[in-house]
Amino acid sequence: MLWNTGLWNTGTRNTGSWDTELTRRLGLRLPVVQGPLGGGLSSVALVGAVADAGGLGSFGVHHLAPQALLDTAALLRARTSAPFALNLWMPCAYRQQKHIEPVQFARTLELLAPFYDELGLALPEAPPAAWPDEREQMEALLEARPAVFSFVFGIPPDDVLRRCRQLGILTLGAATTVAEARALEAAGVDMLVASGAEAGGHRVAFLEPPERGLIGLFALLPQVVDAVQIPVIGAGGIADGRGMAAALLLGAQGVQLGTAFLACEESAASAVQRASLFQPQASDTVLTRVFSGRLARGIHNEFVERLQTVEHSLPGYPLLNSLTAELKRAAVARQRPELMSLWSGQSAGLLRHRNAGAVLAALEGQAQALLGRL
Ligand SMILES: Cc1cc2nc3c(=O)[nH]c(=O)nc-3n(C[C@H](O)[C@H](O)[C@H](O)COP(=O)(O)O)c2cc1C
Repeated sequence: MLWNTGLWNTGTRNTGSWDTELTRRLGLRLPVVQGPLGGGLSSVALVGAVADAGGLGSFGVHHLAPQALLDTAALLRARTSAPFALNLWMPCAYRQQKHIEPVQFARTLELLAPFYDELGLALPEAPPAAWPDEREQMEALLEARPAVFSFVFGIPPDDVLRRCRQLGILTLGAATTVAEARALEAAGVDMLVASGAEAGGHRVAFLEPPERGLIGLFALLPQVVDAVQIPVIGAGGIADGRGMAAALLLGAQGVQLGTAFLACEESAASAVQRASLFQPQASDTVLTRVFSGRLARGIHNEFVERLQTVEHSLPGYPLLNSLTAELKRAAVARQRPELMSLWSGQSAGLLRHRNAGAVLAALEGQAQALLGRL
């Protein structure tokens, strides 16, 4: 019976509640995290809708300057009194590049020029030079004091983790391998997301280049659960109650979904981007560096196809991300999905719902029924 799995406390199915480390620690009704969507794809509406339905909403703020981060936290607080997560990217040596020599800049512009032309944009005259400082972002996050500080691409400095503990901010790291899970636990992080290679968006490896650790969630999750004592949340390829039930049975204390929430009307994705997730082509995803300079999973399209063979000569992150930012914006404005960064995980073919409440209701109902049959 479901309640014998230790995940569900009830005598009757209609009045019970989920009972995992995640729900207990944060007072959630559901062991479900709406994964942070970086680069402007998170929204207050999405976090609020997830919170209303009993899950944990997350807002990706890695691209925001400190004041904008604080403003976002204030908007979230105005929308919901429930806990939410703010998510940052840690400085990570892998394919990081903030300076570009004139020769490489010229060569990069040569490769991108056909796209600037096609979208009617002028080529940039100088390389981008400034990005938000990660340390300042962490200070702003501490000031904002969300219930959860989630982060990827590494581990925050010891003093930041210590101050999180003092302020009662739960820390949630991300691991793509068992070694990364152990490193997060050893640093004193409270919980971790085991991120399978099926996941949409960036591969968030930080100990080895991501190509070395492309482990699917079915293999990764039980190994991580065996390796660490802290609670583990499963992510990557989960889009319905079958995936949720399987992850819980593999030892997860919760699940994190990104693609399924990106597809919801509350996300900040454009209508074209959301619609692309429901097309048959969405089952054809690829890991590519051509948009940001770092490896990320998205739908295979013309932009990827035309640059894939030269991706190794393109600059790293965040330089390339900034150089393609205007292209990506213009492709959205002109409704040209073939030139957009269509981030998606491998679960797109499972998507059925277009708002967060429906996603969560379906997840809960199906997982509960499946676990109840055991
Ligand atoms: C468009 C997009 C942007 C994402 N941005 C971030 C981010 O900024 N920070 C982060 O921790 N995870 C990010 N993720 C990962 C998700 O939060 C989540 O872990 C992942 O999507 C789960 O796998 P799934 O896509 O198969 O559901 C992103 C995912 C997508 C699809």
